[in-house]
Amino acid sequence: MYLIIKKLLFLFDPEKAHHLAMFGLRVANIFGLLRLLPQVPKCKSRILFNITFENPVGLAAGLDKNAEYLNIFSKLGFGFLEVGTITPLPQPGNSKPRSFRLTKEEGIINRFGFNNVGIDKAINNIKSSNFSGILGVNIGKNFSTPIESAAEDYLIGFRKSYLYATYIVINISSPNTKNLRQLQGYDFFEKLISSIKSEQNKLTKYHNKYTPFLVKISPDASDQDLDNICNIALKFKVDGIIATNTTIERDSVTLNPQHKESGGLSGKPLYAKALKTQKYICNRLQNKIPVIGVGGIMSGRDGVERLENGADLIQIYSGLIFKGHNLIHELCKKIQQNKS
Ligand SMILES: Cc1cc2nc3c(=O)[nH]c(=O)nc-3n(C[C@H](O)[C@H](O)[C@H](O)COP(=O)(O)O)c2cc1C
Repeated sequence: MYLIIKKLLFLFDPEKAHHLAMFGLRVANIFGLLRLLPQVPKCKSRILFNITFENPVGLAAGLDKNAEYLNIFSKLGFGFLEVGTITPLPQPGNSKPRSFRLTKEEGIINRFGFNNVGIDKAINNIKSSNFSGILGVNIGKNFSTPIESAAEDYLIGFRKSYLYATYIVINISSPNTKNLRQLQGYDFFEKLISSIKSEQNKLTKYHNKYTPFLVKISPDASDQDLDNICNIALKFKVDGIIATNTTIERDSVTLNPQHKESGGLSGKPLYAKALKTQKYICNRLQNKIPVIGVGGIMSGRDGVERLENGADLIQIYSGLIFKGHNLIHELCKKIQQNKS
């Protein structure tokens, strides 16, 4: 079924196709059709950050940037959803076109640049949904905020989402916001993590609720940056790491004329690099901090490989575009068979 829908959607540019798909899902939901989708196979549950994940397959950030479709994605069989990236103030993102499909390679290049409605509106969307599952809120800095003041933006997002998120993600790895990835360098990173940690301590006491925070890293980070990230994450007891965001490397897609488009590459061409980064940090972290594996997971086998190589949970984005929601079923089935 998805093959037919995909043929139709792929006639449009990726951003239009996304809006069409979301419109279609909304209509299907209104008519109760999403309830007819087969249930995902049961997966062995796992407990992370004191939270029970019944199913380790999550939706990666970027597909529901403004938390507008929680009730829809919750019906597709995901074990958890992540919304965002959300910035303190609304912003339009980069000019269009800003998303490119590399059909043959099963990849996507995007340079959206954190287009989003801002944290206040996004939190209202969360509050007005009836979603009661596991929800990650992924936060970033506004385009106009200088990198030296970035921590302030993250603190705003952190405070405002603290009560509504199951976990919060500090996104310092998007290649589409100028200089953002500098925050992964030693000085910036230590200051940022130290201020978020002390805010977390304050808010935990104030609200009597502990909301874990994770850091999302780039597959392009140097080994030295990864070492620093791991050391600081261990020092400040960061709750988790998400590996990885998109890459600026194009080595595996040079035959496609679209490879010259600037932005972050995701999907199948990202897989090897994301896995390498994940393995590197898992080796450094020695199971002391949970890791969510994301990047290029396009089959059940990919998901199993990520779990076998240190990930505690996985997320998908591009795989959903190229394979449809069947991928969630395939992942759960293979993971259950494998008992990873
Ligand atoms: C169109 C698009 C938009 C994205 N937007 C975000 C974002 O706003 N924040 C973020 O942390 N990651 C974002 N991502 C990255 C994904 O969450 C994920 O880390 C990356 O795409 C690798 O996974 P995949 O190969 O399964 O797509 C985006 C990815 C795509 C393709």
